[in-house]
Amino acid sequence: MIAIGSDHGGFALKQEVMAHLKERGEEFCDLGCYEEKSCDYPVYAKAVCEAILSGKCDKGILICGTGIGISITANRYPGIRAALCTDCFCAEATRQHNDANILAMGGRVVGPGLALKIVDTFLDTPFSGDERHSRRIGLIEHE
Ligand code: RB5
Repeated sequence: MIAIGSDHGGFALKQEVMAHLKERGEEFCDLGCYEEKSCDYPVYAKAVCEAILSGKCDKGILICGTGIGISITANRYPGIRAALCTDCFCAEATRQHNDANILAMGGRVVGPGLALKIVDTFLDTPFSGDERHSRRIGLIEHE
């Protein structure tokens, strides 16, 4: 199950991403926002992080205007590894190397065509499982 959230700056792209997830046959839950009115990205970052940390969801997608505020917030939650991606190379590498559990994007940065490819890459790439990557992820959590 994928948790998805955005603020107003990511709202339009989130609609495109949700339509795409539906086409892919993915199960997802939209944790807000539910309209384009100005709102606070930490609220939605928190909702998505809690859905993952509780075990209800295994991955998340967060979108704000730049992807920056919402990824900064998400990365304050221990156990969350949110990767702000603007290309497919990073989306693939962050799954393989960082086992990122949240994809963050900027709705004012990437167009829908690229964003949907980034989503596909993120969802379809497994963690490499390599010892060196597992060790480094362990070091993140213990500092
Ligand atoms: C909202 O205007 C904007 O600041 C927000 O979506 C995000 O880009 C913050 O990092």
